[in-house]
Amino acid sequence: MERLPVEAQGARSAPDASARPSIRIRQVSKVYTMGEIAVHALRDVSLDIWPGEFVAIMGPSGSGKSTLMNILGCLDQPTSGSYQLEGVEVSTLSDDELAAVRNRYVGFVFQSFNLLPRLPAVEQVELPLIYAGVPKRRELALARLADVGLADRVHHRPTELSGGQQQRVAIARALVTNPSLILADEPTGNLDSRSSAEIMALFQRFNRERGVTVVLVTHEEDIARHARRVVRMRDGSIVGDEPVADPIRAVESASDGDAVDGGEP
Ligand SMILES: Nc1ncnc2c1ncn2[C@@H]1O[C@H](COP(=O)(O)OP(=O)(O)OP(=O)(O)O)[C@@H](O)[C@H]1O
Ligand SMILES: [Mg+2]
Repeated sequence: MERLPVEAQGARSAPDASARPSIRIRQVSKVYTMGEIAVHALRDVSLDIWPGEFVAIMGPSGSGKSTLMNILGCLDQPTSGSYQLEGVEVSTLSDDELAAVRNRYVGFVFQSFNLLPRLPAVEQVELPLIYAGVPKRRELALARLADVGLADRVHHRPTELSGGQQQRVAIARALVTNPSLILADEPTGNLDSRSSAEIMALFQRFNRERGVTVVLVTHEEDIARHARRVVRMRDGSIVGDEPVADPIRAVESASDGDAVDGGEP
């Protein structure tokens, strides 16, 4: 399967003039009109995210985090402004074109896992490959499930899996098409601290080893400190954008499902 030309693998603290950001948004606004009332969910947001970055987005409820994620993931389009994803201007694309860009570049992970209730894990992970028309789907899906530590759960349905395991299925599903960008909206919001650490360990591993760009929304400072950069939003605007001094490195333990925060790297 085609892999994106990722110019830089790993951390990139300072933009290099010769490279192109994965995400480049300029003066993006989003207005939802509800009858007479206009809700300004995003106001003139500009942001660059570089290949291989790991960014946490924080901010109070209603500050526009999910609206921004939906635009970044080509699920929605800005009311005004420019968005270039991997060099493609997506703010003016048709719905079909937008879906094609999304399928090629983006993997999503949601707070509520968004798995289909009756499908076994392996079939959940095969779904994006069916949409993409990729052969050898079973093989690829099994490999991704093994990557997230679920080789022994591939025939389990969501109700037969723990929350942390369900989120790992969702991560395998997000990664199976080799996206350059993973967008995760409160991926640990429904998980206990132990499962949260396991999920963060997976994101960190895929970011480090495969250079996947990760953008993650969280309400928890402890989760945000696993990223290398924290963007803060308020009232539809970016009000802070800082590197994380000593990111926490979540350690995957050898036994299934366990992970602990291993302190500073
Ligand atoms: N589809 C929609 N139609 C109308 N208004 C919307 C829609 N989606 C979001 N909004 C409004 O836009 C604003 C930003 O919402 P958004 O979901 O982006 O916030 P958030 O930062 O993700 O909040 P939370 O932390 O609670 O998830 C809110 O005022 C919300 O009510
Ligand atoms: Mg939200």
